[in-house]
Amino acid sequence: MEVIIQPTADAAAELVTALIDQALRAKPDLVLGLATGRTMEAVYARLVRRHREQGLSFKRCRTFNLDEYVGLPVGDPASYRSYMNHNLFAHVDIPFAHTHLPDGMAADLAAACDEYERCISKCGGIDFQLLGIGNDGHIGFNEPLSALQSRTREKALTPATVKQNSPLFADPSRMPRRALTMGIGTILDARRCVMLVTGAGKASVLAQAVEGPITAMISASALQLHPHCTVVVDEAATADLKATDYYRWIFENEPEWAPFRAKPKN
Ligand code: F6R
Repeated sequence: MEVIIQPTADAAAELVTALIDQALRAKPDLVLGLATGRTMEAVYARLVRRHREQGLSFKRCRTFNLDEYVGLPVGDPASYRSYMNHNLFAHVDIPFAHTHLPDGMAADLAAACDEYERCISKCGGIDFQLLGIGNDGHIGFNEPLSALQSRTREKALTPATVKQNSPLFADPSRMPRRALTMGIGTILDARRCVMLVTGAGKASVLAQAVEGPITAMISASALQLHPHCTVVVDEAATADLKATDYYRWIFENEPEWAPFRAKPKN
């Protein structure tokens, strides 16, 4: 795992966008794992801009979202399908049939989860998985005590998650209490993971996930097991991290990051 610190939330979103851009141009038929949530809106807005202004194409890309609420019609404005259509899919050249989310309206939810896993495998597995972290340490909707080898399945949401996400519903009491989510094992199978974490409110959970022990209490800590995981954070989120000098050194000195460093002004 590596932690990359950027000065602001905008700079962190810009770097994550640049990483997706780089991956997509290198492999136009990229299988891209996507997250929703407030943090990701800045990334999707930038991807849309790059599509419009810099020819970034999603035509051959296939996407798999991490999660979807159970029992919420896809047309509901608070569904993750609506979120993705609104923030990304409707504004880029991705064919609708290439976009996938778990089917939270399926009559047989367990079968829908198995089918989701099969579909990811049929596409060759996820090349690049975008992630955010919840206040309770979740990635996707892998709430505390999710098995570190779990696959796509139904999960009950924690009160912390309900508190975090219910303001996004016109009537907060209508937020579903269950969701379908890729498992931690599903996420760890991705060839590359990139987690974006911004804001002082995430500082404590970020430190637990990155520098604490690997524990099912903080699902994101399982990313320490991944061979190629980058965590991109803003200054505000670093408040509780210990090894920030090392993280800064990595970004300033490792050749991999040279294309992403600000060019010195003449
Ligand atoms: C949702 C997802 C979640 C969010 C997390 C952060 O698809 O993957 O793990 O990334 O809850 O959400 P925000 O960005 O709203 O704080």
